[in-house]
Amino acid sequence: MKELILLIHIIVASFWIGGMLFMAIVLSPYVRKLPTSVEAFQEVGKRYSFWGTVIGLPILFITGIFNSHFIGGLNSIGDLFQSYPYVNTLKLKLLFFFITVVIAVSHDFYFGQRAHINKKYKNITRVLGITNLIIGILIIYLAVKLRFGG
Ligand code: HEM
Repeated sequence: MKELILLIHIIVASFWIGGMLFMAIVLSPYVRKLPTSVEAFQEVGKRYSFWGTVIGLPILFITGIFNSHFIGGLNSIGDLFQSYPYVNTLKLKLLFFFITVVIAVSHDFYFGQRAHINKKYKNITRVLGITNLIIGILIIYLAVKLRFGG
């Protein structure tokens, strides 16, 4: 059971980070050159936002809670108030996770949907996207730290 849950967690994490890297490095530079770039960005954004933000992030949270129990040995929320390397790293990971959720929601459902209106919205959308990519990589680093005990 714990293997299956970690497998799902890692597949969804790969999709989340991989999707952002793919967008930033492969897709965006190409789409930007298209005459229909506005529509293309809106369409791709809508799909990635559905699978990544609406479906992916809640799955990461739920499977993450199970990982915390099955792998990290935590039994209740109260255990988060303790202080030892594993739980401290997990708390930092959770903090970054909540920041990611706030950024993803504002990126996908507010700024991203207005990015075609003017340069200000477009730049904010881009900065939020890049920030979330960086935070995502930090979260992976914290996951690696957890693997080695925190
Ligand atoms: C963007 C969100 C997240 C990403 C990208 C992510 C990524 C990962 C990855 C790649 C692993 C595998 C590391 C390994 O076992 O070697 C992992 C494990 C884990 N994740 Fe997450 N995660 C995310 C969110 C969460 C959340 C919200 C929680 C807690 C509620 C969580 C808790 C855990 C735990 C406890 C492990 C097992 C660590 C261990 O090996 O002891 N994750 N995560």
